[in-house]
Amino acid sequence: MTKKISIIGAGAVGAALAQRVLETGMADVVLVDILKNVAKGKALDLLDAAPIIGHERDILGTDNYEEIKSSEIVVITAGLPRRPGMTRDDLIAKNAAIIRDVAGKVKKNAPSSIVIVVTNPLDTMTYLAYKALGFPKQRVMGMAGALDSSRFIYLIADELKVARSSVETYILGSHSDTMVPLISKTRVNGKPVTDLIKKDRLDAIVKRTCGRGAEIVSLLGSGSAFFSPSAAVFKMLNAIIKDTKETIAASAYIEGEYGLEDLCIGVPCKIGKNGVEKIIELGLSEEEKAALAKSAQAVKGLNNLL
Ligand code: APR
Repeated sequence: MTKKISIIGAGAVGAALAQRVLETGMADVVLVDILKNVAKGKALDLLDAAPIIGHERDILGTDNYEEIKSSEIVVITAGLPRRPGMTRDDLIAKNAAIIRDVAGKVKKNAPSSIVIVVTNPLDTMTYLAYKALGFPKQRVMGMAGALDSSRFIYLIADELKVARSSVETYILGSHSDTMVPLISKTRVNGKPVTDLIKKDRLDAIVKRTCGRGAEIVSLLGSGSAFFSPSAAVFKMLNAIIKDTKETIAASAYIEGEYGLEDLCIGVPCKIGKNGVEKIIELGLSEEEKAALAKSAQAVKGLNNLL
């Protein structure tokens, strides 16, 4: 069956995602960028690899949004990463203008699509996209929790020298330093992580997870992480395309869940062919509830700058 996924933004995350989608045979791709030739050039480069990899998928690079028509899913990665000297407010103003522009064009050309936002600050840009698109809340989500959880799982597995697949966790809250890893629900081969890792080590792992994006930015010198963000988006695409209905943490529009209102923030979601099919409400400890409320407050503070 032909599947079409459009990726807006042919930068580091968009191009890495396009490669994953094509080379797994998941779908054909339309790669859109304001820099038309960058999108075209990356599309040609990916097509030249197709005979080597052995796939028959197609990709089109363009700046023409009419090409995204009939896409099942649109992923928005367009935006600026934070640069040295740029305040968070500057980033919000610049990326908000980009998201408003892109959302208007997605609304016009792919009105039935499911939209996944990747642009930072993630929860605020997802909220803005949700409002600007006017789509049902199930069809707009932000990628963050899948990535933050993966970072946390990797670090726990590395600490204990166990298989990464033996670690189960959830990360709620904002995609920022106020994220809320649910320690009480983190298990390794079914055992509470608190029985296996001492508190001071676990605190250090949580801290490193929260700062992992910044750790990578400082090593790269320019730009930010793209392999793992594209992998996390790919996991969400897979859940939608294959209707797996698996639980993935994502930034979703909240109406009362977890005692919160009118914001997008990271929560565990059942993801399937209709998008966010359900927000799963886990029982939280008092400490986790307080941390989530604090994270939500921080997101609302940024939303107020829109
Ligand atoms: N329309 C389409 N594309 C745009 C627009 C626009 N209005 N404005 C910028 N772009 C494109 C840029 O031309 C660039 O190719 O978005 C792309 C962004 O790519 P990168 O700068 O490489 O950023 P990337 O690392 O891919 O991250 C994208 O995801 O993880 C977040 O913080 C990150 O917000 C950033 C986003």
